Amino acid sequence: MAESITITDNRTGESIEIPIEDGGVDAAQWRKLLPGIWFSDPGLATTAATPSAITELDGENGILRYRGYPIEQLAEQSTFLEVAYLLVHGELPDRAQHDSWVHEITTHTYIHENFRQRIYDAFHYDAHPMGMLTSGVAALSTFYPEAKDIEDPDNRLTQIIRLIAKIPTLAAAAYRHSQGQPFVFPDNTLDYPTNFLNMMYQVGGPYEIHPALRKAMDILLILHADHEQNCSTTTVRVVGSAHADPYSSIAAACAALYGPRHGGANEAVLNMLDEIGDYENVDSFIESVKSGAGRLMGFGHRVYKNYDPRATIIKQAADDVFEVTGKNPLLDIALKLEEVALSDEYFISRKLYPNVDFYSGLIYQAMGFPIEMFTVLFAIGRTPGWLAHWNEMLEQDSRIARPRQLYVGPGVRDYVPLSSR
Ligand code: CMC
Repeated sequence: MAESITITDNRTGESIEIPIEDGGVDAAQWRKLLPGIWFSDPGLATTAATPSAITELDGENGILRYRGYPIEQLAEQSTFLEVAYLLVHGELPDRAQHDSWVHEITTHTYIHENFRQRIYDAFHYDAHPMGMLTSGVAALSTFYPEAKDIEDPDNRLTQIIRLIAKIPTLAAAAYRHSQGQPFVFPDNTLDYPTNFLNMMYQVGGPYEIHPALRKAMDILLILHADHEQNCSTTTVRVVGSAHADPYSSIAAACAALYGPRHGGANEAVLNMLDEIGDYENVDSFIESVKSGAGRLMGFGHRVYKNYDPRATIIKQAADDVFEVTGKNPLLDIALKLEEVALSDEYFISRKLYPNVDFYSGLIYQAMGFPIEMFTVLFAIGRTPGWLAHWNEMLEQDSRIARPRQLYVGPGVRDYVPLSSR
């Protein structure tokens, strides 16, 4: 065996040699030698839960590729819908495939009127749009019961198209609800980002969108489209492994994304910048983070131990947006925060660099999105990635996700009646 490891059970002297394949070792071999001895791996930090051919991420070197294509090239030359096709189908489309894909998605953007009037309208006036989106995606499963047939690849593709098409409609509808504004129907003559922005912002007449903002929106969606086995994608694969329908699986992913350590971080970054309030307060804020008072939101990543390549692209896109919208006043605080953190031993030694969320919120805010919409925007971008993983998982010979635990609770003890406690 060229590359392998040998494990010896010192209790019995028995050994097993396990080949290293694709950077990992097969736990099934371990199980054979050591049945009932489980890996202790909190946060699954050392566990490769699946093989996957979708996204390659090299965190040490700041590399991100979708199906082999560098994120920098896709952000510069591709479109979000083309990237969605790439993620789902594995290859870039030819012209006919591209046009048919775009047509399919553009003509599946409408939602049932009952959904809008009875489900979305039932939410409280100040409902968080991410809560609405999560519930809304779950509710879609009741409108498409045939989606339960997850064994049929054609049926799966239909649901994938529906979800990518309808997520912006649901997202914009949640925003309009929070503003007390009427719903804007999708316009099938518009491209994907323009249609979304139109549904968000159109009031009383045609809504003109600046090409630089349309482009920035598309780039942001591309940058968020996939990120291998992150928390929400793992959630999709776990829920999907139980053979739940895709709407329920994607709703579960939305719920995971909502958390401030994951997709909720962009919202947390803006709240943090607001709280810092002034350029002058940056040093004392950094000191408070170092003393354990909280985290520097938008910094650090489980996998990137280098500058997140998405953050580099976003920083560039931010300049284009600010040229149109004027500079976000919080930018100076963010830049100073980055400068101070990147030269501070605490952050250097822990390899904490800005991640995708550090600058994305500043752009979103400059484009007029309220903070509560930030995670929703992340969800729109991530939907093709989630679906590509859901589909891949079902094409693999996957088992239901069911990890083990290391039980550390009390041993057996007898029940004591309430009156005697
Ligand atoms: N600010 C200050 N200290 C930090 C931070 C931070 N943002 N992130 C990690 N640390 C410290 C942490 O306290 C720990 O220090 P020590 O070794 O002294 O205990 C060390 O760095 C390692 O932290 P960890 O919690 O073991 O790291 P992790 O890999 O489990 O967490 C993370 C990754 C993203 C949850 C974390 O870095 C974090 O909470 N960042 C802020 C939230 C954020 O920006 N999230 C967005 C992630 S990118 C978008 C996405 O993919 O969803």
